[in-house]
Amino acid sequence: MRILSGIQPSGKLHIGNYFGMMRPALELAQKGEAFYFIADYHALTSITSPDELRANVLDVALDFLACGLDPNRTVFYRQSDVPQVAELTWILSNVTPVAMLENSVTYKDKIAQGLKANAGLLTYPVLQAADILIVQGERVPVGKDQKQHLEISRDIAGAFNRQFGEVFVVPIADIRPDVATLPGTDGRKMSKSYGNTIEIFGDEKATKKKVMSIVTDSQPIEAPKKDLDKNIPLQFLKVFAADEAKEVEAKLAAGGYGYGEAKKELLAALQEYFAPYRQKREELAKNRDYVEQVLRDGAARANAVADATMKCVRGAVGLR
Ligand code: TRP
Repeated sequence: MRILSGIQPSGKLHIGNYFGMMRPALELAQKGEAFYFIADYHALTSITSPDELRANVLDVALDFLACGLDPNRTVFYRQSDVPQVAELTWILSNVTPVAMLENSVTYKDKIAQGLKANAGLLTYPVLQAADILIVQGERVPVGKDQKQHLEISRDIAGAFNRQFGEVFVVPIADIRPDVATLPGTDGRKMSKSYGNTIEIFGDEKATKKKVMSIVTDSQPIEAPKKDLDKNIPLQFLKVFAADEAKEVEAKLAAGGYGYGEAKKELLAALQEYFAPYRQKREELAKNRDYVEQVLRDGAARANAVADATMKCVRGAVGLR
């Protein structure tokens, strides 16, 4: 089974990204032949600073390698090292109705947020389809927010196949309903745009400050706490530290145990969970040549697959 997914290099990953996207993707990678790439072409639709883009790409590479991506098993690369996807995007754009792109919720949201309606933003989903189709990806692990993009990819694959013959595998989105969506420190979904994130590799002081600032209700310390299903520190613990979660839940329910204590438990559990990854990341950060080599090796493997696909595609449409 061929698995593919792309990760936007949009800055430091937070623990919502980790539990919602990264951990499931790394687990799925054990079950097949995975192609995971850093979507730097896509990032051009939102990042205008070259330095920021380069720094973000490095950060994502370090984050994934530190958290356990095995580059021998998984093909890990920078999207722009496979420029064939840009050629495929052009070819696919000829079987893509403009109305379908204009209907994209992401496109409409971004315009509403004030981004300029340029062609890159509009054709973003065609580039995404090209990413998947160029390696004949069958399963695409993504979050719920990518559902529509994946439907567009499927439509484009189908439209191409109907017009030019069966060239592409029609990909399936792998959206896990059981996957944890972590609340942010303010109770809304954890998201960079809300400023409510807790970074995976943030420094200790900053992480402590953020954890201690998590919103809770105002039941007094002595009270046996009610409505524990809405308690954010507890929701966090349940995602990655089941034993601690049970203990903290029992103490809160018994009364005489405050939310400050629960947050300290959470902080300790987080530090413990991420400690090995943090160490690995520090080592990798000192070894940039190795990281670069990993991405180049990944690109070489992805290029071989992309070239084979493009040969079929060019033939099918009547190019050389
Ligand atoms: N659009 C995806 C996101 O924002 C990133 C992405 C780019 C992607 N190309 C992809 C995801 C191909 C899956 C497959 O998260």
